[in-house]
Amino acid sequence: MTDQLSAVVRNATRAVHAGEVRRKPQHALIDPIFQTSTYTFDSMAEVCEFQEAHAKGHVADRFEYGRYGNPTIQAVEERLAALEKADSAILVASGMAALTYTFLSILRSGRHIVMTDDSYRRTRQFCEDHLKRFNIECTVVPLGDYDALEAAIRPETRILFSETPSNPFLHVLDVERFAEIGRRRGVLTVIDATLSTPINLRPIEWGIDLVIHSATKYLGGHNDLLAGFIAGSDRLIKPLREAIGIFGGISDPNTAYLLLRGLKTLNVRVQQQNRSAQRVAEFLAQHPAVENVYYPGLKSHPGHELAARQMTGFGGLLSFAVRGDRAATFRVIDALKLAYISPSLGGAETLVLHLAAMAYYDCTPEERAELGMADNLVRLAVGLEDADDVIADLDQALRSVEG
Ligand SMILES: Cc1ncc(COP(=O)(O)O)c(C=O)c1O
Repeated sequence: MTDQLSAVVRNATRAVHAGEVRRKPQHALIDPIFQTSTYTFDSMAEVCEFQEAHAKGHVADRFEYGRYGNPTIQAVEERLAALEKADSAILVASGMAALTYTFLSILRSGRHIVMTDDSYRRTRQFCEDHLKRFNIECTVVPLGDYDALEAAIRPETRILFSETPSNPFLHVLDVERFAEIGRRRGVLTVIDATLSTPINLRPIEWGIDLVIHSATKYLGGHNDLLAGFIAGSDRLIKPLREAIGIFGGISDPNTAYLLLRGLKTLNVRVQQQNRSAQRVAEFLAQHPAVENVYYPGLKSHPGHELAARQMTGFGGLLSFAVRGDRAATFRVIDALKLAYISPSLGGAETLVLHLAAMAYYDCTPEERAELGMADNLVRLAVGLEDADDVIADLDQALRSVEG
């Protein structure tokens, strides 16, 4: 951020301006897309100067090769870091790349990770199935059971990982307590805050070490890009950046541009999605064809008070259980006219997902039962349509089980 903007502390303003160079090439208002895979040097003397500065750990004011950096990517990284109140951030190819690279670069053979349940399925699969191949063990504890979390920590534990709110049951983690446990026990705390967005929650302000996001969701906001990022202190991010320069799954300038663009409206989009999801959740909670609603904005949700204390909004995602069996639930989903059947969230379009038949389709019935993925469970990612239209759509669809 330029000096004129360093005093800006509000995230709505940071989402529009942070990371920009105020005077851009040709006096353009909008950041250019630096579509280049490499950068040139004028002489060998310049090359040597650059290498010496790099060897001394100095931050260069130029780029060398696309895998190590790009001005459009740097602009979005600075904006993301500002939004998260972090020293710096690294943009990578997807949310999963952000998660797996973080685990792979911090953990090594013989180490151990503790994670909470109800985490994004692929993250849990990576930690339970793939880290095992590197002799790294994973213990899963219930989200919200802080005694179990403490009890699971071993001398070789290096990471405590959680999500908040969790996907799909919207459990709320006490991030301050989680951070305190990590600090006291000398273990790094890592949070996937995709569902919160930095508008609703900034885990670093509560003492969390690293924050990870799938920027594919609310941050991009238009269902047209895949990206992820990791934010934290310079001390933690610097070695991660070095490792990612070798792992290679970086983002690209076009995606970075779309993300810069999407972030400009992040605050208004998220505020709107908070309001709409609250109204949709309240509507569903009183509907006779609905058995249960999972949304932290509802007073009946077990995480409501905690969410109200640590978040400034409850988010745009909710899940609900239809009063009926799998066939009845499929009928409701098929009857929706506005919501698309699709496995993502955070964009302008309202999306609906049948968890058992989609995200958890390849589990055994026993595994699904253990995870609570019942046949009548539906996840709804509320978009930017008028909330009255989303509610009317749900109402007419739910009638298919009432009759
Ligand atoms: C909470 C959460 N974390 C991470 C991911 C993975 O993100 P990506 O699809 O960008 O790899 C997802 C995807 O749905 C998610 O919901």
